[in-house]
Amino acid sequence: MTVAATVSPANGYDPFDLSAPHATWAKMRENKPVFQHKDTGYFIVTRHADIKAVFDDWQTFSSENAQAPMRPMCAEGRRIMTEGGFTAYSGLSARVPPDHTRIRKIVQGAFGPRRFKAIEPKIAQIVADALDRIAPLGRADFFRDVAYDVPAFVLFALVGIPDSDVQKVKAWSVSRAVLTWGELSDAEQLPHAHNMVAYWDYCRALVAAKRAIPGDDLPSDLLKLQAEGAEITDDEIAGVMYSVLFAGHETTTTLMANGVHTLLTHRDAWDAICADPALIPQATEEILRHAPSIVAWRRRAKADAQIGGVAVPEGSDILLLMGSGNRDETVFPHGEDFDIGRANARNHLSFGYGIHFCLGFQLAKLEFGIMLRQLTARFPDLRLTGDGKIDYLANVSFRIPSKVEITWGDAT
Ligand code: HEM
Repeated sequence: MTVAATVSPANGYDPFDLSAPHATWAKMRENKPVFQHKDTGYFIVTRHADIKAVFDDWQTFSSENAQAPMRPMCAEGRRIMTEGGFTAYSGLSARVPPDHTRIRKIVQGAFGPRRFKAIEPKIAQIVADALDRIAPLGRADFFRDVAYDVPAFVLFALVGIPDSDVQKVKAWSVSRAVLTWGELSDAEQLPHAHNMVAYWDYCRALVAAKRAIPGDDLPSDLLKLQAEGAEITDDEIAGVMYSVLFAGHETTTTLMANGVHTLLTHRDAWDAICADPALIPQATEEILRHAPSIVAWRRRAKADAQIGGVAVPEGSDILLLMGSGNRDETVFPHGEDFDIGRANARNHLSFGYGIHFCLGFQLAKLEFGIMLRQLTARFPDLRLTGDGKIDYLANVSFRIPSKVEITWGDAT
């Protein structure tokens, strides 16, 4: 067993900087695959096998810190949230057994392929409408003009809320991302604290509204299961909405944006799927591996443990770098290369692994597949434009680009 070395940003690694982390990750996989990061105190885990082993051992490595703020909320922010009645707790991802097992079983029942399949024509329509809007323009910011709204409209159909609420929920989601996974100053936290109060109010009001007038949607399904005897409280259902109204679109927006950017910077792959759309499912797996929406996720050691031979004491916080594990050469030969013909791309860790494995993975792939089919059919000559300078949101988990500028047809 070795004792973990500590590394600070001065040594070249800042977990909040997701602009171009891949070369640093590769060095860490090679030289310091598991180490304690000085400034955050987190144990950083970079190799595929170690990440998978931690995900798999939920008794030793709990997800209870998955939604904890990386930088604790300031006193004024806590006051705003307490006085605003903010009592939200994670829907699922930061819950642990037996509560997690109980709630997940119920939610899974309302979240199966049946509901996703039923929504497929609606997704196709939402994507077609978005592409109709940009078609006459000749150029667009694919992130802002297409990928931003489409998954939210899909999710809103699933959850049974009006499209007019998209902008509001999208804004709350950014607040949640930067408050939980970012490193805001005290003053910067305050407007986001107000947003979290509004967001939680909205989730609770949604459950109350669906109880009064049920619809053909996810919260109504959960209330129906509750009425039939399933053990889930109203606040737990609101908690699931709180999860899904974030996880259900933000990640898919990013998949679409990073996916299109990756394909357009690897022209052969774009041309290949234009020529043969049957390649889209395997291209999707390779995009998920190479350019995942969530590059890191957290766990906490519940006992003295070892990861990759490094001692990790009880109570330690752990940051699993799935973005790095996805490029681990021992699993993916030439892992830095993007190759839609890669046979084992689906062994990526982008949806997690084990008892918390993403519940929305089918929906995310379905939406992305529909998007790529329509995009390649309508805009085969799509290309990147602009200055190519993309910033990524400063936080440890979500690799969200600031823009993906595209053009097509004769526009220059
Ligand atoms: C590209 C899109 C997506 C990515 C990359 C993604 C990724 C993830 C990851 C990494 C986790 C944590 C897994 C773990 O701890 O082992 C997770 C959990 C979860 N995801 Fe997703 N997700 C995506 C889309 C979605 C969608 C569309 C939904 C819902 C409609 C969704 C709902 C959830 C839920 C409810 C959990 C918690 C599951 C649990 O703790 O039992 N996700 N996802």
